[in-house]
Amino acid sequence: MNNILIRQVQDYNTKSVIIKGWVSHYRSSGKVIFIELRDGTGIIQCVVFKDDVDSKSFESAKGLSLEASVTIYGVVRKDKRAKTGYEINVTNINIIQNSKEEYPISTKEHGVAFLLNHRHLWLRSSRQVAILKIRSTIINAIRNYLDNEGFMCFDTPIFTPSSCEDTTSLFETDYFNDKAYLTQSGQLYCEAGAMAFGKVYSFGPTFRAEKSKTRRHLTEFWMVEPEAAFYDLEMNISVAESFVAFIISQVIKENKQELEILERDISKLEKVQIPFPRITYDEAIDILLDNNHEIKWGEDFGGAEETILSEKYDKPLIIHRYPAECKPFYMKNDPERCELALNCDMLAPEGYGEIIGGGQREDDYDILYKKIKAHKLDLESFSWYLDLRKYGSVPHSGFGLGIERTVAWICGLKHVRETIPFPRLMDRVKP
Ligand code: 4AD
Ligand code: MG
Repeated sequence: MNNILIRQVQDYNTKSVIIKGWVSHYRSSGKVIFIELRDGTGIIQCVVFKDDVDSKSFESAKGLSLEASVTIYGVVRKDKRAKTGYEINVTNINIIQNSKEEYPISTKEHGVAFLLNHRHLWLRSSRQVAILKIRSTIINAIRNYLDNEGFMCFDTPIFTPSSCEDTTSLFETDYFNDKAYLTQSGQLYCEAGAMAFGKVYSFGPTFRAEKSKTRRHLTEFWMVEPEAAFYDLEMNISVAESFVAFIISQVIKENKQELEILERDISKLEKVQIPFPRITYDEAIDILLDNNHEIKWGEDFGGAEETILSEKYDKPLIIHRYPAECKPFYMKNDPERCELALNCDMLAPEGYGEIIGGGQREDDYDILYKKIKAHKLDLESFSWYLDLRKYGSVPHSGFGLGIERTVAWICGLKHVRETIPFPRLMDRVKP
């Protein structure tokens, strides 16, 4: 007998197999019991006929509870009626553990709060499995793309002495009688990496203490941040669009089944081919005003603006050259119009909003020095960052892609809370 995984059943038609898993659904009608078994690689129906098994096996099958763990012995049978095309004709069944109590998650509608409280169990349901498998494909695609394009993985610290994005959204920690903050972005360290290795990327958890209770905000999220020496804004945008197009193509290739479970319209994802549309901040303002949306030049875009703009296109939209005053200190100003930053954001289509933020960095020592002062940041904390502009400073650029917002878009989810195994939100750090 072969010990197999459910995803391998098609290679074992008519053969005797052993499968270990959990009971995800159960139905009995006197002489026959139907067990839906899942093992993380798939789901398969196992049929127990009273006449095919010994009485002990049949009795224990009759007493099975939802999520009981079992070893099934049986014969694989091709069956057109079965959802997956195959069934198992059970010859023997061994219960590893019958659930001690009734499984709390049933097929009836549960509220989101209840499901999030039971996230450790909710993870087992087929929608959640599909989402997190797609997340895993996205992460693999990210690494493969960047590794193949000559970016070196460069791990940046999580404890940091100062802010990178915005001082009001820092998580402060007690660091041996001193203070340290959880990182908001690995970017500043990646810039040091780019000057040492040319092209690098950091990939890890980042933290934001901003008091945002929106469908796009987590307090702990994962970000990948490529950074490249000798890249200007245009080159940076080109990397970003090829990168996103590659990620999408990999998910379409690897996750057909999962996208189907999520009822995702794949034709919308298939449209994500380079080049992506590019507009300036000025043009974005015109579009918003044409849509009777109230906004003044100089204001940053929030969720409402992003939704309007990204709904206009069926590909991700790149918006570049925002007013410098609404962007962080490290952005380089546009030499043609110094009130603008050489930055770029990418908004996902279908109203998903910003998934990428980035741009060209200020590489001039004196200008950067003045900007740090103008932003009232502590010069001492940034002396190492200024050093990078003392010894062979070069034009350089990079960006950060938020994993959870990307997963939400690709999976077609309303909220980012289902895109990470254990979401951390303003009002949730459990389980
Ligand atoms: O636009 P952000 O703040 O850019 C940076 O942190 C730059 N230092 C990145 C760089 O240039 N290396 O964040 C980048 C992306 C956003 O576009 C979004 O996808 C995601 O990170 N993001 C969040 N995702 C979930 N919850 C939050 N609170 C997020 N804040 C940002
Ligand atoms: Mg941003």
